[in-house]
Amino acid sequence: ATETEQQDLVIIGGGVAGYVAAIKAGQEGLKVTCIEKRGVLGGTCLNVGCIPSKALLNNSHLYHQILHDTKARGIDVGDVKLNLTQMMKSKDTAVAGLTKGVEFLFKKNNVNYVKGTASFTGEHEVKVNLSEGGETSITGKNILIATGSEATPFPGLEIDEKRIVTSTGAIALEKVPETMTVIGGGIIGLEMASVWSRLGAKVTVVEFLGQIGGPGMDAEIAKSAQKILKKQGIEFKVNTKVMGGDASGEKIKLEVEAAKGGKQETLESDVVLVAIGRRPYTAGLGLENIGLETDDKGRMVIDQEYRTKLPHIRVIGDCTFGPMLAHKAEEEAVAAIEYITKGHGHVNYGAIPSVMYTHPEVAWVGQNEQELKASETKYNIGTFPFSANSRAKTNLDTEGMVKILADAETDRILGIHIIGPNAGEMIAEGTLALEYGASSEDVARTCHAHPTLAEAFKEAAMATYSKAVHF
Ligand code: FAD
Ligand code: NAI
Repeated sequence: ATETEQQDLVIIGGGVAGYVAAIKAGQEGLKVTCIEKRGVLGGTCLNVGCIPSKALLNNSHLYHQILHDTKARGIDVGDVKLNLTQMMKSKDTAVAGLTKGVEFLFKKNNVNYVKGTASFTGEHEVKVNLSEGGETSITGKNILIATGSEATPFPGLEIDEKRIVTSTGAIALEKVPETMTVIGGGIIGLEMASVWSRLGAKVTVVEFLGQIGGPGMDAEIAKSAQKILKKQGIEFKVNTKVMGGDASGEKIKLEVEAAKGGKQETLESDVVLVAIGRRPYTAGLGLENIGLETDDKGRMVIDQEYRTKLPHIRVIGDCTFGPMLAHKAEEEAVAAIEYITKGHGHVNYGAIPSVMYTHPEVAWVGQNEQELKASETKYNIGTFPFSANSRAKTNLDTEGMVKILADAETDRILGIHIIGPNAGEMIAEGTLALEYGASSEDVARTCHAHPTLAEAFKEAAMATYSKAVHF
């Protein structure tokens, strides 16, 4: 397809939402063009989000473990040194491999890829300022907006991505800072605090609420995570407000105030990470040219089938409603293409897992205790600690637990909350159980291999309606 030919589908944004939709559309035989301004496909997730952060989390964990956790395992190591440049290179290799992979999949599925910035000039037409210079116009029978999100700025703190950073700067620091203050104890804050604390920085996390972990995390699990991360050396100031900052000196000064009592103090650090959430990104799209609006949080307004009030224009991913997660964006991408080609699609927003890739990992799906209490749902709780799980014991990695919440009357599983080794993998089993409407007894009567961490999941299910065997 050439750019001047009318397309069946024009996609703005080549992040997870956009690129998955493009591949799917190509597979369905649609004439599809995907426009991306970054110069690379994969969006936030592949370039500056999920993938590089997990590369650093994995390698910093390995480094930290070699430093502190080998002796009891019968491994004596000599001189251990951090080579941060190489660690960053290893991260870049992972990113490059995956983004090139997406480009390959575009070719394989006949997706027309245009590098440039798109904006609406008509209801069916976008203008693209091409990255290599010049511009072009593309028309589409359908248009899909997948422009993603950006870090929410902190008023008064100017981001330079060197000393005052968002996650983008935090995954690319050139040296380990002596001290780091993280504003916001959500997922980004805790993952990045883990990375830099393991590599040697003294990290303080300042969280506005009384609980860390961001929205959705079960309060009991969040408390446990805070305790474990504190033991690893991360300092927490919860119920604490950042009032302002001053970056003019050698150290950055942050004025903070306790929410209760109003006690004030000044925190000094070399690097400040702003991680107070992300907001939809639709700047420069020219939505005003076609009369499309965003809500008070900047999210594009859509119906159940992802349609704006102009029904041939759909929106998916971080720039609209729902959790800002890559797998959520991917599900919506597939569903949006199915709505276009078949008239029906499916995403179960009640069964989208969340994972925090700290060590131990925290993972959950469905409702937490706070939510069940708020809706006055009667529920049973089954828990099982990893300290009683044989595999966790053999691995000398026993912190955490599995917690299952099931309807008191029907035993149907309502929520699964795990803190522990490999929680992010184990939650797939929980998500499947939730999606299939399993009862906790269904899970408990399913044979699980021994010795595996997943047995903790089975035993927590057992404890929901009966008693665990090994605890
Ligand atoms: P994006 O990935 O933001 O992609 C949008 C793309 O659109 C961008 O590449 C942008 O350049 C392009 N674009 C915007 N405007 C235009 C325009 N006018 N013209 C052309 N192109 C345009 N999620 C997880 O599920 N797991 C994780 O482990 C995880 N880790 C994360 C770690 C970090 C540090 C961050 C910041 C995020 C993380 N996320 C994670 C969230 C995840 O990255 C997002 O949910 C996901 O990227 C959303 O995909 P998207 O396609 O909607 O948006
Ligand atoms: P978040 O919403 O997870 O957490 C932000 C935290 O900052 C909250 O705990 C909030 O109470 C706190 N906060 C807000 N304003 C504050 C203030 N003024 N002072 C102190 N604390 C304040 O947002 P975060 O961590 O920035 O991540 C953004 C999004 O990126 C997440 O919602 C998530 O969807 C996605 N993400 C997902 C990851 C994963 O799946 N592993 C990893 C990283 C990001």
